[in-house]
Amino acid sequence: MRIDVVTIFPGYFDALELSLMGKARDRGLIDLNVHDLRDSALDKHRTVDDTPTGGGAGMVMTPEPWGHALDGILAGEDAADPLIIFPSPAGDVFTQAMARELAHESHLVFGCGRYEGIDQRVFDEYAERGRVRLVSIGDYVLNGGEVASIAMIEAIGRLLPGVVGNPDSLVEESHESGLLEYPSYTKPAEWRERRVPDILLSGNHAAIDKWRHEQSVERTRRVRPDLLDD
Ligand code: ADE
Repeated sequence: MRIDVVTIFPGYFDALELSLMGKARDRGLIDLNVHDLRDSALDKHRTVDDTPTGGGAGMVMTPEPWGHALDGILAGEDAADPLIIFPSPAGDVFTQAMARELAHESHLVFGCGRYEGIDQRVFDEYAERGRVRLVSIGDYVLNGGEVASIAMIEAIGRLLPGVVGNPDSLVEESHESGLLEYPSYTKPAEWRERRVPDILLSGNHAAIDKWRHEQSVERTRRVRPDLLDD
């Protein structure tokens, strides 16, 4: 999968050089390209924002640098029917189901807004020319789209074939089955007088599967009853 990111803070994305994402990039499974929006600014001060037209607090990102940066990416020879995602608290809520859907895309472009947001004409322009989605990672406000993009890239990237070594571990996770994950234990069998549940030491795999499922349902009912309604 090709992923382009446009941001004024490219350093945030250094985190994606670590761990499984870093390995996936080294192995060519994810082709991540981070672009500094300021490289597309029009002036020598590399300005990317201005005061809101009509008044109000804060600053708004101006359309010209965005137009220049996105046009460059869309015109690139590797561009393949890209979907442009603008992280925004005003977008559709990102879920595991959306991650699965987006894992089928061949080219994602993340446009990270800052300040009070991006001039609306940028969304309108690219929605007319192609596919654009506003996506929120939850009902809280971040300082910009960078952290939200990293969360989405990791959730999507780990679903790509070959990124996670043992694909079984993807199936058994929270949210994959619509339930939260059951509790996990390892050795030693007793720690600070806390024993691993006997059933897990029984060797009876059918009984273990049943117990784990019951734990998942109980945990989901207690912590996230809304998931059971769905
Ligand atoms: N930018 C600011 N807050 C955000 C959120 N909750 N999700 C996505 N992008 C954001």
